[in-house]
Amino acid sequence: MKAWLLCYAFTAILCIANAGRQHRNLETVSDTGGLSRESFPKGFVFGTATSAYQVEGMTGQGGRGPCIWDVYVKQPGHIANNDTADVAVDQYHRYKEDIDLLAKFNFDAYRFSISWSRIFPEGVGRINWEGVAYYNRLIDYMVKKGITPYGNLNHYDLPLALQEKYGGYLNRQIVEDYANYAEFCFKTFGDRVKNWFTFNEPRIVAALGFDNGLNPPSRCSKEVANCTAGNSANEPYIAAHNLLLCHAEAVKRYRQNFQEKQKGRIGILLDFNWYEPLTRSKADNYAAQRARDFHVGWFLHPIRYGEYPRTMQEIVGERLPKFTEEEIKMVNGSADYVGINQYTTSYISNPEGPKPNVTSYQNDWNAAFANAKNGVQIGPKANSWWLYIVPWGMYKTVTYLKERYGDVNIFISENGMDDPGNATLANGLKDTTRIEFFKDYMTQLKKAMDEGANVTGYFAWSLLDNFEWLLGYTSRFGIVYVDRINLRRYPKMSAYWFKKVLEKKR
Ligand SMILES: *[C@@H]1O[C@H](CO)[C@@H](O)[C@H](O)[C@H]1NC(C)=O
Ligand SMILES: *[C@@H]1O[C@H](CO)[C@@H](O)[C@H](O)[C@H]1NC(C)=O
Ligand SMILES: *[C@@H]1O[C@H](CO)[C@@H](O)[C@H](O)[C@H]1NC(C)=O
Ligand SMILES: *[C@@H]1O[C@H](CO)[C@@H](O)[C@H](O)[C@H]1NC(C)=O
Ligand SMILES: *[C@@H]1O[C@H](CO)[C@@H](O)[C@H](O)[C@H]1NC(C)=O
Ligand SMILES: *[C@@H]1O[C@H](CO)[C@@H](O)[C@H](O)[C@H]1NC(C)=O
Repeated sequence: MKAWLLCYAFTAILCIANAGRQHRNLETVSDTGGLSRESFPKGFVFGTATSAYQVEGMTGQGGRGPCIWDVYVKQPGHIANNDTADVAVDQYHRYKEDIDLLAKFNFDAYRFSISWSRIFPEGVGRINWEGVAYYNRLIDYMVKKGITPYGNLNHYDLPLALQEKYGGYLNRQIVEDYANYAEFCFKTFGDRVKNWFTFNEPRIVAALGFDNGLNPPSRCSKEVANCTAGNSANEPYIAAHNLLLCHAEAVKRYRQNFQEKQKGRIGILLDFNWYEPLTRSKADNYAAQRARDFHVGWFLHPIRYGEYPRTMQEIVGERLPKFTEEEIKMVNGSADYVGINQYTTSYISNPEGPKPNVTSYQNDWNAAFANAKNGVQIGPKANSWWLYIVPWGMYKTVTYLKERYGDVNIFISENGMDDPGNATLANGLKDTTRIEFFKDYMTQLKKAMDEGANVTGYFAWSLLDNFEWLLGYTSRFGIVYVDRINLRRYPKMSAYWFKKVLEKKR
């Protein structure tokens, strides 16, 4: 008995010693690759990003109304392991711990999103004050901890009521309803939130919601995928057009009614992969340019120049909605800055063989994708099937935006990589590949900035492992590991790496 106890105690001590050693190992982070706060211009902002649906939990509680994802995830087969976001990582209750982590690891800012249906459960009309109080608590705590709030008004989670009432983004009524929601947020939170974004990745909303039907509301042409209804030739363009008008109307109201007094800024968050021509042929170069135009140009061109890219106008023709004179004035110049979510790069070539029969947004690109050239893969793959690690794509992305969009002021608003969801705690914490990822991408970003690109901030995706949409919890993008059983947070080695890079010299 005594021997057993002794043995037990000894093991426990060993175990504690081991844990201590592991903790120290995480903190003694390898090299920063020469990066530090001082490598970037004075005032450059470092933060992390999340979105309401992916972290909050409490989907059916706290007075929140349902969003289009709530019903979609509950239909078996849509999400890996049939997971849901009902609990997610419970930031609704654990926000203080999460903000404390940001402060501890020397970050300046937190890019969060507001759940529209937590404020307006039916999308319009009745206000859920319990939801308003939650965002007030979250924002107040950020301010208290010296973390600057970057508020995003919508990250995929459209109120279900508006989808059911009139088809969501397919109906022009969405513009008025969205702008009223946005205006409520400016009025209520704008005394503390000085950095706004209207939408995250409207291209994903339009393409995955209405072209291939992978995301809710899952609409597409029968020939494209197994959707119950939709039209991939028209609806993606209508949805995108209305998203642009929602954005522009919200910006107009912000500028008219709030900006001067609140002294804030407003923009939009766009996803953009770099597209590198597969060969030096003219045809491949044109194909890559089409890809860039159909990807980021779809939104950025109207916002910067008041019209869709010429390539899109020519290819999409009559199917592309037109802005009225009044709308052009509203959309043209409707961003003080643009957030770019940058992760990956593909080779693009001019497709060979017969054109596809089906008219769709993706087929309109008339571009063939490749992840290898002469048998050499473009980069190592992360856990997500689409995420090839290509740091030089960051340099090309930022340089391209500067050249094509005239010194537009940019934030890198997402950048990161994922590990598999079943990574053990011990393996998950030693995320040396992720450290290399950040080091290499940030080095390429700095190179573009040293050559004159106007970038004012960098946000890592993500603060925490969270609900990764269709991948559920089988993907871990966090710099903080979350134990799926008890939701405890464990900073990964990459969090300590940021702490060192972001050290403030006294
Ligand atoms: C998801 O749910 C469906 C229906 O209940 C079931 O057939 C399927 O096996 C489930 N998938 C997983 C991965 O559990
Ligand atoms: C297509 O969708 C219908 C209705 O949602 C479903 O019953 C059917 O199993 C689906 N078919 C395939 C091949 O996924
Ligand atoms: C957008 O605004 C710019 C500058 O204000 C102007 O030069 C351009 O003609 C406008 N675009 C359209 C399509 O009116
Ligand atoms: C195009 O449609 C024809 C006739 O319906 C069909 O035989 C052919 O396989 C289709 N081609 C492609 C690329 O889908
Ligand atoms: C970058 O953009 C900001 C905001 O538009 C502007 O104030 C600043 O002067 C620009 N900086 C450079 C170097 O162009
Ligand atoms: C994690 O899951 C993948 C399949 O998704 C499997 O191939 C791998 O062996 C698993 N790893 C562990 C450590 O369980």
